[in-house]
Amino acid sequence: MEAERLEDVQRERALYRKLLDLGHRTEIEPFLDEALALVVEMAGAQRGYLEIRDDRGPTSSPTKPFSIARGCSDVEVAEIRAAFSSGVIAEALATGKTILAASALDDPRFKDRGSVRRNRIEAVLCAPIGASRPLGVLYLQGKAERGPFSEKNRVDAERFARDVLPFVDRLLFERRLRHDSDPTRPFRKLLRAEGLIGRSEAVAKVLRLVTLVAPLDISVLITGASGTGKTQIARLIHDSSPRAQHPFIELNCSTLPANLLESELFGAAQGAHSTATRKVDGKVAAAEGGTLFLDEVAELALGAQAKLLQLLQSMEYFPLGSSKAVQANVRVIAATNTDLRAAMARGEFREDLFYRLEVLPMRMPALAERTSDVIELASFFCARAVETLKLPELEMSPGALLAAETAPWPGNVRQLGHAVQAAAIFAAGEGVSQVEQRHLFRDPEAARGALVRLTFQEATWNFQKEYLGKTLGELSWNVSEAARVPDLARSHVYNLIKAFGLERKR
Ligand SMILES: Nc1ncnc2c1ncn2[C@@H]1O[C@H](COP(=O)(O)OP(=O)(O)OP(=O)(O)O)[C@@H](O)[C@H]1O
Ligand SMILES: [Mg+2]
Repeated sequence: MEAERLEDVQRERALYRKLLDLGHRTEIEPFLDEALALVVEMAGAQRGYLEIRDDRGPTSSPTKPFSIARGCSDVEVAEIRAAFSSGVIAEALATGKTILAASALDDPRFKDRGSVRRNRIEAVLCAPIGASRPLGVLYLQGKAERGPFSEKNRVDAERFARDVLPFVDRLLFERRLRHDSDPTRPFRKLLRAEGLIGRSEAVAKVLRLVTLVAPLDISVLITGASGTGKTQIARLIHDSSPRAQHPFIELNCSTLPANLLESELFGAAQGAHSTATRKVDGKVAAAEGGTLFLDEVAELALGAQAKLLQLLQSMEYFPLGSSKAVQANVRVIAATNTDLRAAMARGEFREDLFYRLEVLPMRMPALAERTSDVIELASFFCARAVETLKLPELEMSPGALLAAETAPWPGNVRQLGHAVQAAAIFAAGEGVSQVEQRHLFRDPEAARGALVRLTFQEATWNFQKEYLGKTLGELSWNVSEAARVPDLARSHVYNLIKAFGLERKR
């Protein structure tokens, strides 16, 4: 008797400990999934179903219940759901009691109910979750080794239903909090912005502007530092506009010399220049009906600026070497990470073009202005690295998230994305399941103890500065090369040079 009691206490403790292990989850779905796997295994059940309702959310927008199934086909899940209104589950919810039926077919309480007969359900174990106020239900069906569920199984299921509740409550609470305090939500409903992470006020401001400009056929000028998401916003505007079904064509104005850029943009008649051996269509033609995105528009030479202005004013252009005007139907979105007003003052950018483009200016905030988005962004990039690189399951450790939130990211979202991806690769290489701070900030100086008196932020900054300085030095300040090696955008390297105050030693 004593031995039995001891075994029982050990089982109870083991269950609780396993739930505690799952307790670090921050989202309810993966938590429920693993929790259900746990009970299904413990009970040796063939099928399992777990459903939780959030009844404390705002009544104006009742949320869908969270449900997870194991070992069930779609039809079986539908059958189980049907039992909520009349059947085993309805009975358990109504009485607040666990139902244990050796064979539901023989049980007078259920044998008339359609779903039981159709399914020839044998052993069933159904425990309500939350006795006074049922939040959900745990439903197990069929023993793997035939026969009924045991009394032990019932005790385990009831303990599970009791112990899982505080975890579920916490996850639901946090989820509601996130939901209620998300100022981007009203705008997200109007846009296709799933891949755009962030719930800060700064992001909400940008999304509000996107909802305003997207449906209008006006030019947009997006400004902001490198890696803040200008290209992504341009795409979002296009995808949310009436032109969404037509092409979105990008042209980076800094990549080609002036004459080639013009023919790239407007096309060229046969023989217009040495490489135009036949008629070439330009990007304006390719974007017909859609959107033309001009990245780094400040780099456009004055000649091309004049032609772009003409296109915007008359929706007509002349391909290089042709005197025949071509009609165009494009919307132009431009982006720049340099100060166009300063360029205007230097006479490098046409004022009339500037005002034509800047019908509605949109500024992407630096990551430093929305540090509250860092944790979500880092988790997103970690999950994306796992998926695209096919790494084993990985998540960011709480320490790594905190470090990411406080570190400076002069290269903004792009830099954070690269750092998290690299960290995920290192963590996977070590065979651990969490990305730690040391993966995210690999700092040989710190390891040698030379930087112990610095804050973490300062140490990270110093490392980046030294790293970039050395790289540039070794590559004779060839910025393109210095960008290629650590896989950074060229414009980002320029920003870093400015931010770190690096200078070429002669
Ligand atoms: N809010 C965001 N959510 C998810 N990913 C983002 C977000 N903002 C930026 N990114 C990602 O960060 C990277 C850099 O973004 P993007 O290319 O749009 O920046 P950019 O401002 O155009 O940079 P550049 O000035 O160098 O052209 C991209 O991979 C993009 O998908
Ligand atoms: Mg860009």
